[in-house]
Amino acid sequence: MILVTGGAGFIGSNFVLDWCKHSKEPLINLDKLTYAGNVNNLQSLQGNLQHTFVQGDIADQGVMADLLTKYQPRAVVHFAAESHVDRSIHGPEDFIQTNIVGTFRLLEATRAYFKTLDAKAQTAFRYLHVSTDEVYGSLKPADPAFTEKNIYEPNSPYSASKAASDHLVRAYHHTYGLPVLTTNCSNNYGPYHFPEKLIPLMIVNALAGKPLPVYGDGMQIRDWLYVTDHCSAIRRVLEAGTPGETYNVGGWNEKPNIEIVKTICALLDELRPKTDGTSYTGQISYVTDRPGHDRRYAIDATKIYQQLGWKPAETFDSGIRKTVQWYLDHADWVAQVQSGAYREWVDANYAKRAA
Ligand code: NAD
Ligand code: TYD
Repeated sequence: MILVTGGAGFIGSNFVLDWCKHSKEPLINLDKLTYAGNVNNLQSLQGNLQHTFVQGDIADQGVMADLLTKYQPRAVVHFAAESHVDRSIHGPEDFIQTNIVGTFRLLEATRAYFKTLDAKAQTAFRYLHVSTDEVYGSLKPADPAFTEKNIYEPNSPYSASKAASDHLVRAYHHTYGLPVLTTNCSNNYGPYHFPEKLIPLMIVNALAGKPLPVYGDGMQIRDWLYVTDHCSAIRRVLEAGTPGETYNVGGWNEKPNIEIVKTICALLDELRPKTDGTSYTGQISYVTDRPGHDRRYAIDATKIYQQLGWKPAETFDSGIRKTVQWYLDHADWVAQVQSGAYREWVDANYAKRAA
């Protein structure tokens, strides 16, 4: 079996659902259930004995050690993290605690467990660390996309905490021989994406008749990957990646934010036209930029394509249409995650941004 951390979050829950579709291998899913974790994402697995959910904190080394000893997994796939850049600007502490200290404690528990395995189980064992392209910093317009050889230049507390965790993972391979794999992926989008991030926020605000807050000039570029393509890349790296190696994962889909927002508006104009006949683009509102905002990210995914034969299945057009349709079909899920805590965050992040 495998042990997954953070499997009730956006990418983690998509990974767990996909895993149960593609494999019969059991999976233990450990998640703290922070504001970003939602067991309802896994509702379709109720009664499915392949999936076991455990609420817990990766920073609790005793809990992690007990789980590893009890279930004897052949792999750990580590998603659990604080993941939102704006939140890391408002309050970096949780990012240091979970992304750095939590990863350290998980590595320590895994290192102790790895030592107890026999030679055959050690050879087969893998620790897959899920990271981000944001560790590489910001690209200029003419720069080539990030390869695995780019130096680390993180600019936000979020990306700095992820960079620190990547370094720890690397060190546990070089120093202790832990068979680690690291993936650095570009921006994901798709079902179960918490509506604090650009794409789901724009969809839910548009439908609620609220402003669509575009930071700065809206010309920052991200490289978008449909979430199930990220999941298939992780499965492939787990299956065939070389321990100690890192793999960049991306969709070859660089787009400025304003183009993303206008595409969402156009899809909503088609799929859920406004009763007054106007376009959702009328709700676009340029607001004060994010401090230290990275201008451009882009991933060169040649290595994972050439060495492991992975490439994305979705185009941006197909993925964004599916995503908008998913949010239209899951108004209950959106209402449920927009709890009091969510409203407090929206007030804290947007109230002081001048239009
Ligand atoms: P998310 O914020 O949606 O989910 C994170 C999950 O981790 C939640 O379920 C949360 O409850 C859980 N968690 C947080 N702290 C925990 C702790 N201390 N112990 C146990 N569980 C804890 O994040 P996501 O977007 O699904 O990202 C998952 C991973 O992928 C992260 O490591 C992130 O850095 C990485 N990543 C994300 C993106 C993206 O576009 N979202 C892109 C590349 C890499
Ligand atoms: P986000 O989804 O927070 O991901 P990240 O910062 O990790 O790339 O933001 C994606 C882009 O969208 C980023 O350039 C910031 C921008 N953005 C807005 O313009 N308005 C918003 O309300 C949000 C949340 C993000």
